[in-house]
Amino acid sequence: MSQTFDIVVIGAGPGGYIAAIRAAQLGYTVACIDEWKNAAGGPAPGGTCTNVGCIPSKALLQSSEYFEHARLHFAEHGIATGAVRIDVPQMIARKDAVVKQNNDGILYLFKKNKVTFFHGRGSFVRALESGYELAVSGAQPATLLARHVIVATGSRARALPGVPFDEERILSNDGALRLQAVPKRLAIIGAGVIGLEMGSVWRRLGAEVTILEGLPTFLAAADEQIAKEAKKAFDRQGLKIELGVKVGEVKATKKGVAIAYTQASGAEAMLEAERLIVSIGRVPNTEGLNAEAVGLKLDERGAIVVDELCRTNLPGVWAVGDVVRGPMLAHKAEEEGVAVAERIAGQRPHVDFNTIPWVIYTSPEIAWVGQTEQQLKAAGRAYKAGVFPFMANGRARALGDTTGLVKILADAATDEILGVHMVGPMVSELIAEAVVAMEFKASAEDIARICHAHPSLSEATKEAALAVDKRTLNF
Ligand code: FAD
Ligand code: NAI
Repeated sequence: MSQTFDIVVIGAGPGGYIAAIRAAQLGYTVACIDEWKNAAGGPAPGGTCTNVGCIPSKALLQSSEYFEHARLHFAEHGIATGAVRIDVPQMIARKDAVVKQNNDGILYLFKKNKVTFFHGRGSFVRALESGYELAVSGAQPATLLARHVIVATGSRARALPGVPFDEERILSNDGALRLQAVPKRLAIIGAGVIGLEMGSVWRRLGAEVTILEGLPTFLAAADEQIAKEAKKAFDRQGLKIELGVKVGEVKATKKGVAIAYTQASGAEAMLEAERLIVSIGRVPNTEGLNAEAVGLKLDERGAIVVDELCRTNLPGVWAVGDVVRGPMLAHKAEEEGVAVAERIAGQRPHVDFNTIPWVIYTSPEIAWVGQTEQQLKAAGRAYKAGVFPFMANGRARALGDTTGLVKILADAATDEILGVHMVGPMVSELIAEAVVAMEFKASAEDIARICHAHPSLSEATKEAALAVDKRTLNF
């Protein structure tokens, strides 16, 4: 017996579950299929983001930051704690509880919005005259018929060629979030977002962390000035980052792993560690979809080919999130999910990649939106830059964290904001103002004239806007 829906969504990560909810709000009958299992084998909707990505990593970043504050900063405030120690299994258990709250929250939202959830693997069976037949395999197999299919199957960690993850010594993001003890020495390959966030967690807890990065430039996607400032802070913290290396053989040893590599200078080197995290990017999940059965077009990386509206080569089949082109970010996946549901309903939404914020939740945090200074230079665009350091911000001084700066780039002629770049305390929150400003095509002068609460970190954004016109008041 088959069940018929207007829309079937495959994958309940941020792209899929949000698309399903929005489609249900618009009056469609919607099913969402997801295969993720919790430790008891039950459903765990939320995808990579909820289970082994955004949420658990931020839980561990919070715990490890508290630990570091207690160890290094409480005394200055007159707080005496005695010896501070970390109970790693308890920290991991708390993280698991946070994940479960989010899994349960999504199941609740499905019920509330009347989205029918299927726990199992979803795959294409065949194209019908109008729509598609899909199979759900798993504990409760089912056959579904749908007029529209939204594929949101996400991505998984990319392994080094010939070095599979065992999640014991050689860890993906999954194993990196489940360690039950602090490794004495931790090696990481890839100084991207995961490498920096996970490296920060385990360094704060006492591991000696070395990150090997292939590119000669640190955080090449970020604004150079911001990347430089962040690198200085990481160096001070003792997070070792070697740039421009070429990783060679990775071997298991009695104590962990040994990584042979060539340094930027050309010298051969060996890094030994108890554990290795490989964070060199992610690959789209399309294997389980039986895409061939319907002729769904994939590119050479295995990603689903879509146009700017997330339409695939098949009528009525859409794809969103990590499984398609564009930044692999949860909020990008969500925006695409909403946009596709609304497109199906005949609305005209659009997702502007230029105003998608990037945030790296290290300490200092790093956040940006829009163009970097090097991109503007390369494009030959005339711009003005305004910079304000947190050192001159009263709230940052009271917090005891004055690292970093806010930088605003504006068009030289029109003053329109072209990019905002931040490194410092809580910039993950401050960046939202910049995103709103850019969406509304604000000028730097607009932000400079908006009243910001005092004392607040957001005053640094106002001052950076004033700096664009060379009239900072507090620096
Ligand atoms: P996913 O979240 O990967 O979800 C896809 C779902 O589909 C999964 O549940 C999968 O099991 C399921 N699935 C796959 N194939 C099938 C099938 N055939 N049948 C049924 N189900 C299937 N992004 C941010 O924006 N902020 C962050 O702070 C952040 N932190 C991160 C930290 C880490 C360690 C990692 C790894 C990623 C992080 N990301 C972050 C990226 C973010 O997790 C992804 O961009 C986001 O999860 C993509 O959402 P998605 O819905 O496209 O796919
Ligand atoms: P990444 O693309 O951010 O970084 C990978 C790094 O590995 C790059 O610097 C790259 O040059 C380097 N690299 C690649 N191959 C290498 C090799 N063979 N040897 C040495 N270095 C090599 O990818 P990452 O960190 O795996 O994260 C995947 C994605 O997940 C990110 O792109 C991001 O979209 C998302 N994410 C987002 C977070 C956030 O928003 N805060 C947090 C974590 C992940």
